Amino acid sequence: MSKERELFNAAIKVQKNAYAPYSNFLVGAALRSSSGKIYTGCNVENIAYPEGTCAEAGAIASMIAGGDREIKELTVVADSSKPVAPCGGCRQKISEFGSGSIVISLATTSGDIISTSLEELLPGAFDQSFMKL
Ligand code: THU
Repeated sequence: MSKERELFNAAIKVQKNAYAPYSNFLVGAALRSSSGKIYTGCNVENIAYPEGTCAEAGAIASMIAGGDREIKELTVVADSSKPVAPCGGCRQKISEFGSGSIVISLATTSGDIISTSLEELLPGAFDQSFMKL
C-alpha cells in the first residue's frame, strides 16, 4: 500500500469516531511523524461551541503524547463536496511541528484527494525565526 493511501485509510477510520453533533461535519486526520508512526485524530465538538477541537489538533496532540515531535506528512478527510481545507488555526498548529515542504493531502470520503504543501496553505507563516529565543 502506498504511504499516502495508508494515511488516507487511517484518516477515514478515525473520522468514524468524530464527535460532531452540532455541525454534523465529521473530520478525520492522520499524520506520519519522523519516527514513521501514524497518529490520528478526529474533531470533538462541545455545546460551548468555541471549546470544540479540530481533527488535526487531535492528531497533533496524539503525536506529542506519543513522544514524537515532527510531522512528515498529513492527510485530512471529511464528507465534503470538495477536498476539505484545514482551518487557519490548524495551519498554524501544523506549522509548529512541520516544515513548509511537508505534503498535506486534503480529501473527501469518496476519495478525491488534492496534495499540497504547508507552505502553500500558510505562506509567510509566523515561526520561531521571527523571535529571539
Ligand atoms: N473541522 C476540522 O476538524 N478540521 C478541518 O480541517 C475543518 C473543520 C471541524 C471543526 C468543527 O467540528 C467542524 O469541522 C465544522 O467546522
